[in-house]
Amino acid sequence: MAISFREVEHNYAGLRKNDYVAALHNINLDIAAQDEFVAVVGQTGSGKSTLVSHMNALLLPTKGSVHIFDYVITPKKRKNPKLKPIRKRIGFVFQFPEYQLFEETVLKDIMFGPLNFGYKEEEAKQRALQAAKMLGIGADLLEKSPFNLSGGQMRKVAIAGILAYNPDILLLDEPTRGLDPKTALEVMEIFNRVNKEYKKTIVVITHDMNLVYKYATRVIGMKDGMVKFDGKPIDLFSSNIYKECHLTKPDLLCLIDYLNEKMNLNLGYDIYSEEELLKRLKEVIL
Ligand SMILES: Nc1ncnc2c1ncn2[C@@H]1O[C@H](COP(=O)(O)OP(=O)(O)OP(=O)(O)O)[C@@H](O)[C@H]1O
Ligand SMILES: [Mg+2]
Repeated sequence: MAISFREVEHNYAGLRKNDYVAALHNINLDIAAQDEFVAVVGQTGSGKSTLVSHMNALLLPTKGSVHIFDYVITPKKRKNPKLKPIRKRIGFVFQFPEYQLFEETVLKDIMFGPLNFGYKEEEAKQRALQAAKMLGIGADLLEKSPFNLSGGQMRKVAIAGILAYNPDILLLDEPTRGLDPKTALEVMEIFNRVNKEYKKTIVVITHDMNLVYKYATRVIGMKDGMVKFDGKPIDLFSSNIYKECHLTKPDLLCLIDYLNEKMNLNLGYDIYSEEELLKRLKEVIL
């Protein structure tokens, strides 16, 4: 396993001394090094960002341990390994990308990762340009300051900066937030390609259940700092657990429910696109 949580707890320091906010309780889970497409879901404040921040040691557990490749991360800061090799292998796009960008120009920002992890200037530039192209970041933006971009553009730049150094695992905290629906789909398609073609593991936090159903092969449902569900999306939405996690059903499954009820059909949830639904409908009706 690439990442393993063993009885992990996390408490944030509170406002007053000896006060704390319990954000994760007794987390045990494993993420494979390759070929997983995991969605982390749950209502606001359920602990998603805190959970994912432990996956590249951005946060340390208050109790328990996180095993990342050959490294063991424990509450004791001084005993922990150097984090740079972990960061190279596990890229993280933050929930608020403005905290992640800091160079003078967009191009320099995207080049930062490859340079930091040992690529030579020219190769770093080529990688940055390729990543920018993948995300549709136009040449006109490359020389701008990243702080003069819109929220969605900043997010694209942050994503390009991670893709440019080719980590083994990508952690993405609400990567489609602030993007228009078409761009959001394009960005998810890029992650899908990275997952399918290069077998990389992708961990995405999202509030968009349509994207979860379309892309994820595994879903982790968080509630009150605990893992309430860990399994296939189809099983989450076939049970009532999605309601307990304050989630909504994907539109496609709502449509299937509606058709089943109104037309007295018995369509299953193993349908992942409108085209598939239409095909299945034709089979049962004609
Ligand atoms: N830096 C912090 N200091 C103190 N408490 C925090 C901090 N960050 C998060 N928390 C608390 O920890 C809990 C989990 O927060 P977290 O950010 O992990 O939730 P989330 O599921 O990512 O929510 P959202 O969907 O809003 O991003 C919440 O109760 C939150 O208030
Ligand atoms: Mg969050």
